[in-house]
Amino acid sequence: MSLQGKKIILGVCGSIAAYKAAFLVRLLVKEKAEVQVIMTKAAQEFITPLTLATLSKRPVLSQFSPDLSTGQWNNHVDLGLWADLLLIAPISAHTLAKFASGHCDDLLTAVYLSARCPVWVAPAMDLDMYQHPSVQTNLKKLTSYGNTIVDAEEGELASGLSGVGRLAEPEHIIQKLSAFFEHSQSLQGKKVLITAGPTQEPIDPVRYLTNASSGKMGYALADEAAQRGAQVELISGPVSLEINHSAITVTSVTTAEEMIEAAQERFSKTNISIFAAAVSDYAPTQKYSQKIKKKDDTLTLTLRKNPDIAQTLGKRKTEGQILIGFALETNNEITHAYQKLKKKNLDIVVLNSLNDAGAGFGHDTNQVSLLNRKNTDILKFNLKDKADVARDIWNFIEQYEV
Ligand code: C5P
Repeated sequence: MSLQGKKIILGVCGSIAAYKAAFLVRLLVKEKAEVQVIMTKAAQEFITPLTLATLSKRPVLSQFSPDLSTGQWNNHVDLGLWADLLLIAPISAHTLAKFASGHCDDLLTAVYLSARCPVWVAPAMDLDMYQHPSVQTNLKKLTSYGNTIVDAEEGELASGLSGVGRLAEPEHIIQKLSAFFEHSQSLQGKKVLITAGPTQEPIDPVRYLTNASSGKMGYALADEAAQRGAQVELISGPVSLEINHSAITVTSVTTAEEMIEAAQERFSKTNISIFAAAVSDYAPTQKYSQKIKKKDDTLTLTLRKNPDIAQTLGKRKTEGQILIGFALETNNEITHAYQKLKKKNLDIVVLNSLNDAGAGFGHDTNQVSLLNRKNTDILKFNLKDKADVARDIWNFIEQYEV
């Protein structure tokens, strides 16, 4: 099991959901993780250290002084170095604010500041508290520090109200942790380039040619790569998506010309490139400097072909670089996908068929088939959430590399 032998510090804060920490400890121990619990003072009002010490089979730590007098290793720096992951579940609005601002007045905050390992926080609070701009801002700050937020879940809250704010179920947290450790090191040291979203090709100052790409697939691929330890350069056309990982650098572009320029600059240093952008094949030959006036019954725009980013970089591909392209097809899908693979000198093609409902542009789901240069095997997947599709694609790329 992927949590076996993992050293987890579980921070517990003062929230009614603190009782769920007992379930979390039990599940972590069951998965054979080593668990060191640190409780804030307030947490002990909700659940006793004895319960968590018994379940974790280790003394629970809380403050500097009493603990320092008893142990040899329970200081914050050692703890921060010992852990493979620091999980705070539940994290209260109070401790969240302290983490966000760097306040350090107890063992948990000191360990947070010393930790070199990944930090995950799972908030739990009443729905209005959770929605408050200060809490949301603090969560964003933690994200910007590279921490992972395990979003609160929706349901009945201790106050009797119903909404988002419940601590994520311990089983869900364990599943996420397992997935994280399973994948976390697999792309360590790799540099990944991803193009995503549509491009916009200006006609005049207020009009442009574009398409319905949402960028969701490219962003999901970037997110998954970062979670597996890669450094990601994401070159994105105009989309309304956010990125929540410190290992992803986003370069925002508008036109195909800008996208190819950004991609070319970064390509030689990249191990794996994924061309997930729906680049406009054509752009107006001329951009009108003034808004085009409504005049004649017909208006003719002349278009010129845009550079093909995948194909251009495919020509520059060197030994060891892997290139992945997408093919969105309506007929003779497999044949066209293989043609694209050869023409653009790609290693893998992700094929979407427009004949599959729920696949391709704009949806949260996608259905893909994966084919590669080495053999004629085609792997066809079911309709899935784009995050799951990203996992399948990365598993395929990693196997291809071996
Ligand atoms: O030839 P077609 O446009 O169908 O190829 C799709 C693949 O090529 C996608 O991976 C897409 O990101 C990439 N592409 C590109 N530059 C273009 C057009 C497509 O990189 N101008």
